[in-house]
Amino acid sequence: MSSPIADEVARRRTFAIISHPDAGKSTMTEALALHARLINEAGAIHGKAGRKSTVSDWMEMEKARGISVSSTALQFDYTPTGTDQASVINLVDTPGHADFSEDTYRVLTAVDAAVMLIDAAKGLEPQTLKLFQVCRHRGIPVITVINKWDRPGRTPLELLDEISERIGLTPTPLYWPVGIAGDFRGLRDARTGEYVKFTRTAGGAKIAPEEHLDADAALEREGDVWVEAVEETELMAEMGQVHDEESFLAGETSPVIFSSAILNFGVRQLLEALVELAPAPHERAGIDGAEREVSDPFSAVVFKVQAGMDSAHRDRLAFMRIVSGEFERGMVVTHAQTGKPFATKYAMTVVGRERETVDTAFPGDVVGLVNATALAPGDTLYAEKKVQFPPIPSFAPEHFAVVRADSAGKYKQFRKGIEQLGTEGVVQLLRNDIRGDASPVMAAVGPMQFEVVAARMKTEFNVDVQQERLGYTVARRTDAASADELNRQRGVEVFERTDGVLLALFSDKWRLQYIEKELPDLALETLVAAAD
Ligand code: G4P
Repeated sequence: MSSPIADEVARRRTFAIISHPDAGKSTMTEALALHARLINEAGAIHGKAGRKSTVSDWMEMEKARGISVSSTALQFDYTPTGTDQASVINLVDTPGHADFSEDTYRVLTAVDAAVMLIDAAKGLEPQTLKLFQVCRHRGIPVITVINKWDRPGRTPLELLDEISERIGLTPTPLYWPVGIAGDFRGLRDARTGEYVKFTRTAGGAKIAPEEHLDADAALEREGDVWVEAVEETELMAEMGQVHDEESFLAGETSPVIFSSAILNFGVRQLLEALVELAPAPHERAGIDGAEREVSDPFSAVVFKVQAGMDSAHRDRLAFMRIVSGEFERGMVVTHAQTGKPFATKYAMTVVGRERETVDTAFPGDVVGLVNATALAPGDTLYAEKKVQFPPIPSFAPEHFAVVRADSAGKYKQFRKGIEQLGTEGVVQLLRNDIRGDASPVMAAVGPMQFEVVAARMKTEFNVDVQQERLGYTVARRTDAASADELNRQRGVEVFERTDGVLLALFSDKWRLQYIEKELPDLALETLVAAAD
């Protein structure tokens, strides 16, 4: 690699943290920002309430709302210890709540690696499992971080067993804890055998100083606790659970680090593992099967469209992840879905309320385009050589509600707003002739998506909406030939989704099973489930 673009690509790492709410994603993000010297202080002496305001303002906002609706990316430079080569890290935020798993899925199309953050006391939790399945589905390599080791929790072997048994991923320790959960003294580097001893800082506000000791000095310092860490890591090695880059990239194994995000223990190790092991941005196949190489002319995929992130900016932003080529603000690119030119004059990075103009960006980077109303998640932008990336699959919805304007006089705004929110993928929109266009049906993976619609209709389009939940819980893809017969069945209704797909909704899975048995010739295809 020698061209400027190849150098920029080689030093980039784009990843997301996947975790169950409360595992410590925000705390870890802050710790990473501290290590990258993006902030000078992190942590809190008295929990989050005492936390200093930081770059993660946006997280605070999400916390205040109790839900996570904004997804954006934090970019920082990081120079690993002992080198003078700065890497560029893009940390793409994922929504925390399970109701937004479809958004998370979209976000995960924008990353090259994921960090699976696990609470040492809780082990694998439902949302972690779900998100892990998404990573597996998309072939995203996963680094595992077992967090909160400063608190009493399970044993390392138990936690690692759970990972291999429940998700079939072989954990390969990179850094093993010295001291049981609740007595976190340091980490043993499984590859070099060296001991990294940490010292706490007041309130975990600063980077934890490290001492590096060889095995003899470690034994002298920690005694039995050190011996245990050595025995356990050697046991893992005997079982063949050692890091192997190829099987990690193939999604078969996952390097493991133990950490305390709140004390900043193991955070440097995570950053360096990302730089050393996670893949740099790489080629991506278009729908015609041809690979778009990172050195090809500019191309990007839109993975998130959102609006109303704060009251000062009521506009709409489309976030794209650059796949190939150099992006220069102002360049006119082509929107693959419509063939229309798209001017990129207003290109931004967005962190909370802060917006900064982006003049250039490279593969792996995330750029927000302002007022990009024509763009929808999954869309492709390109320059010169045409490419279109595969669409992002829609999830199987499980919640359905009719939505209508509170007052008939607002119908025009209502249509405009609901169509916009449908395009952004806030909910899927369904219609059929019987119900008509005045009261479309919203389909969602989680009911909180309906709340987002109601809130945004009011704040952005000035329309109060009424929602009425429908008693359907299962959706199957069907075809025109089967639609009439299905509509004649009790507890079934057929709709057309905005993308033209016909969906049959069933009151419950027993109704579906009965119909599948009685009328086996009907087309009833399973949609991508949230856990696929
Ligand atoms: P999330 O974004 O994944 O939802 O988690 P977040 O970082 O908000 O962390 C959830 C809680 O866990 C927070 O406590 C946070 O301080 C704590 N936490 C995160 N990482 C660690 C860690 O490494 N060790 C320990 N001991 N705690 C950690 P909180 O909601 O403020 O409650 P509290 O701690 O004040 O009771």
